[in-house]
Amino acid sequence: MDNLFSCNLYRLLLEQLPEGVIVTDAQGKILFVNPAAERIRNLKKEDILQHNVLGCHAPASHEKVTRAIEFLRAHPDKTYHRMVNDQLNKKVYENTYTGIYDAEKTMQGMAVITHDVTEKRRAEELQATASRAQNIELENMRLQYHQLLMTSMEALTNVLEARDEYTNGHSKRVADIASKLYEHQYGITDTYLDIQWAAKLHDIGKIGISDLIINKPGKLTSAEYELVKNHSRIGVDILKNLDPGERLTPTILHHHERFDGKGYPLGLAGYAIPMGSRIIAIADTYDAMRSCRPYRKPISFENCIAEIRNNAGKQFDPEWVNVFLDLANTGSID
Ligand SMILES: [Fe+2]
Repeated sequence: MDNLFSCNLYRLLLEQLPEGVIVTDAQGKILFVNPAAERIRNLKKEDILQHNVLGCHAPASHEKVTRAIEFLRAHPDKTYHRMVNDQLNKKVYENTYTGIYDAEKTMQGMAVITHDVTEKRRAEELQATASRAQNIELENMRLQYHQLLMTSMEALTNVLEARDEYTNGHSKRVADIASKLYEHQYGITDTYLDIQWAAKLHDIGKIGISDLIINKPGKLTSAEYELVKNHSRIGVDILKNLDPGERLTPTILHHHERFDGKGYPLGLAGYAIPMGSRIIAIADTYDAMRSCRPYRKPISFENCIAEIRNNAGKQFDPEWVNVFLDLANTGSID
């Protein structure tokens, strides 16, 4: 095998290749090491020449190298690749093991070609880190943009409510109560924020209903009431393009459903009604009862509590009524 490298041209070629080259005989004894292999793998050829190829690998890698040699012995037409993350020398390189066979396909030796990919790998890691930072920045921008849109919609609702002294601040109070109920059970989560926003915007659809009906001092006729009922759907129409993940619009659409299925717009019942809608229904009714109306004074705290309790399982989800009563009875809702 030594004679193979007596030809000066071949030897020069192998010496000057940018890839590391280690050549062994059939038993794995190292016969040749080029300078690139010494540089990439941080070894000296005089330390490993005439030694077994396992000698230039850490003991932990011996099993993998042996497997590569066995693979080549069994598959004369194939090469074996192994990516090495050399922690000690802070290098990453790909070893390609290729057998050297005679005309009868008997393995006469083996070449290990080492391709240094450290710089390429570092560049990829930097790129991945930059890309991740960019994604975080984009996500932050998206959240800020969403917050801005929602705040604008809230301002619109405030303007709507400010035109009527009886409903001024209603949506904000509903949002405060609804978010207190949710927080009491589940803490502050993404859903908490969704319910808070849905509550702030639950009546935004009233923009689409005539002021004459919305601000009518007396009782509504049934025809007028039918028109008012459209506000849930109008609210969804206003917000649907600002709510691509549908985190708010289903809650807004169903905030007038009843637990017994007699509500609107779809007559959903029980747990088919989104949780946020079931919570907002309680907060909405409570605040409406506690507020002054042109045709009546605010209803007392005790009577409001009794009304909510009496409607558990009818208008309201009984489990959320219990949460509401817990908070009301301990001073968190007044
Ligand atoms: Fe409403």
